[in-house]
Amino acid sequence: MGASKEIRFDGRVAIVTGAGGGLGRVYALELARRGAKVVVNDFGGARDGSGKGAAGPADKVVDEIKTLGGKAVANYDNVATADGGANIVKTAVDAFGKVDILINNAGILRDKGLLKMEPENWQAVLDVHLNGAFNVTRPAFGVMREKGFGRIIMTTSAAGLYGNFGQSNYSSAKLGLVGFMNSLKLEGVKYNIKVNTVAPIAASRLTEDILPPDLLAKMNPEYVAPLVLYLCSEECGDTGRIFNCGAGFYNRVAMMTSPGIVVGGGKKIPSLEDVSANWAKIMDLKGAKEYGQLNDLVLQDLLSALEGKKEPAPVSGFFAVKDVFEKMPGAFQAGGAAGAAVVFQYSIAGDGGGDWYADIKNGACTVASGLHASPTCTLKIAAADFLDLMNGKVNAMKAYTSGKLKIEGDIMKSQLLEKIFKF
Ligand code: NAI
Repeated sequence: MGASKEIRFDGRVAIVTGAGGGLGRVYALELARRGAKVVVNDFGGARDGSGKGAAGPADKVVDEIKTLGGKAVANYDNVATADGGANIVKTAVDAFGKVDILINNAGILRDKGLLKMEPENWQAVLDVHLNGAFNVTRPAFGVMREKGFGRIIMTTSAAGLYGNFGQSNYSSAKLGLVGFMNSLKLEGVKYNIKVNTVAPIAASRLTEDILPPDLLAKMNPEYVAPLVLYLCSEECGDTGRIFNCGAGFYNRVAMMTSPGIVVGGGKKIPSLEDVSANWAKIMDLKGAKEYGQLNDLVLQDLLSALEGKKEPAPVSGFFAVKDVFEKMPGAFQAGGAAGAAVVFQYSIAGDGGGDWYADIKNGACTVASGLHASPTCTLKIAAADFLDLMNGKVNAMKAYTSGKLKIEGDIMKSQLLEKIFKF
């Protein structure tokens, strides 16, 4: 994808919670600048969530957007209540007819060591961050599902991902959002709803006394917004991912699962001593993989254990078309190709689709995006059907006979595919 192609949000409707200041304000401004109609939600309370709320912060950002020629409406609801969440979504539907993008960003802090943390400090933080995201996402998801498009962002924190002294309430709420995403990403697959999570680091009223002043000066929220907005765009086919972002530095965070070991061969109940004897192997992260869903663990690792296999089978589970092509060279089986020289062209239609080809010759496989000059055969399929095929939900013959998969050129050669690639 060329850097020159401007990513736009024309025709899109976005909700940004807690958009009256800090990071949310910048997301709202940039979405509007790129064509989105924005609901600027902010309750307008204090940093710790106290107070009766105020219209000022949301109104100010709406004014800023309008001054720049953008479209926005203000909403002052509290995300911590189900009614508040419903009304935020209603504001979007009433003003602009739908919701395409939701950035769950509203947040408060009530830092205390565990023994000083009163139940209300724990509850208030969970209510705004975790319950708040549920309260807004649930009604928004319904609207997105109807339209067959959605981009949802959860806001986690390095405190939740890695831990931070005195923030057990905040860390719990923030990592809870990752769990929320993990399941919601699966519920969204069929409806082109992508759910991703960001862990920002930026100067704001939440961090003004936490981060050192010289660091704060270099950490404008503007540096976080590009990654967050990319995740909100049609271009982004990823779902279920977590990113750190701050000061223009972005990386991906993943929950990794080690290969592990079947102690006792799956035939006898291991003793504590057996566990102790195998501790180094249980702990070893070498060869760890990222799992896409619970079944990757249950159906692969645990069933392997029951069957007495030591090596769990590799895991698949694709959520984005481009991931298939990234993994394709690694899935190539030179033996299966049996010296064939073939070019498979893929034309994947719809969201996250595009053109890729696999060029197989001399026992090697090259995968590239774009169109090959003389493909042996061309496979045409919609992105969602392609993912179903790759995830084993539909078999190739059925996809072909039902017309979902169209093959042009040398159809017979396409039968090699199952032998040549083992994902
Ligand atoms: P901020 O305090 O400037 O912005 C948060 C906004 O949310 C405020 O305008 C506040 O009025 C609003 N808000 C609070 N409770 C609300 C509620 N119940 N309903 C509606 N709006 C409410 O803070 P910042 O830094 O921009 O934080 C944005 C998000 O990013 C938060 O979820 C925060 O936890 C998260 N975050 C920020 C980090 C940073 O370095 N700034 C680090 C990690 C996470």
